[in-house]
Amino acid sequence: MNFYVMTLFPEMIENGMHTSITGRAITKGLLSLTTVNIRDYSETGNGRIDDYPYGGGAGMVMQAEPVYRAYEALKEKIGSSPRLVYLTPQGKVFHQEMAEEFAKEEELVFLCGHYEGIDERVLEEIVTDCVSIGDYVLTGGELPAMVMMDAVSRMVPGVLSNQESGQFESFQDGLLEYPQYSRPGVWRGKEVPEILLSGHHAKVERWRRDQSILRTLHSRPDLLETAEFDKQDRKFLRALLSDEYEVRITEEEKSFLAKLLAF
Ligand code: ADE
Repeated sequence: MNFYVMTLFPEMIENGMHTSITGRAITKGLLSLTTVNIRDYSETGNGRIDDYPYGGGAGMVMQAEPVYRAYEALKEKIGSSPRLVYLTPQGKVFHQEMAEEFAKEEELVFLCGHYEGIDERVLEEIVTDCVSIGDYVLTGGELPAMVMMDAVSRMVPGVLSNQESGQFESFQDGLLEYPQYSRPGVWRGKEVPEILLSGHHAKVERWRRDQSILRTLHSRPDLLETAEFDKQDRKFLRALLSDEYEVRITEEEKSFLAKLLAF
C-alpha cells in the first residue's frame, strides 16, 4: 500500500506515521509514505497558498492552483490517476467497511485542508471521495488522514502480527469488544472474573460473547439492529430482559431489547 499525503504540515504526518505499528510496516516495506507540501506549489513563489473568501466571511480559503499543481506533480510521479480522499467534516463518516474497501487500492492519496477549506473548483476536479472521521470540527485534515491510514494499514497483509490481528475481530462481527484482563489476578482488591480462570474454553467464549452483547447494548445499541444472533445469543438476550441475569439493565435498554427480540 502506497500512501501519499498532500498537506501544509508534512512533518506532522511523517512523525505520526513513523511511530508504532505503521512505522514498523514502513520500515519493513509493507507500506510507503510520501508527503507533499502544498506550500511548495505556491503560485506566487513566496509560499502563500490562501486568500480571502469571495462573498465575505471569516477565515481564509486555500487556493485552487497550488493544490492542483501539487496534485499534477503527484499524479505524474504515480503514473496514473489515483483515488483521492479529501478529509472534511462534510464528507461521509468513516467506518470499518470503508477501511476494508480502501485497503484494496494500491495507491491512496489524502488531501488535508486547513483554514476555512479549499476552493471548491479544484475539489471538483481531483477528489474521488470526501470523508469525515466524525461529527466534530478539527483544525485540519492531518489527524483524520492519519486515523484513516492507521485503520487501512491494519487491513494490509503482514502489517499486524498474527497475535495482533485477532485483536479486533469482535468489532468486525458488528459488536464491540469484550473486556480484557491480565495479571495480577487481584488488583487493588478487584478480582478478575472467575470464569476466565476456569480454563473452560467454551464457557470463556460464551462469557466473552455475552459481554460483547452487553457492552454493545450499553454503548452502541444501534449496532445490535444489524448484528447476527444465534440461538445462544437470543437466550442471553431473553435472560437480560427477564432479569434472570445478575447484571441489571435500564428500563430504556429493556424496551429497546424487547423490540429487537420481537423481530
Ligand atoms: N477536518 C476538520 N474536521 C474534520 C473531520 N471531523 N473529519 C475529517 N476532516 C476534518
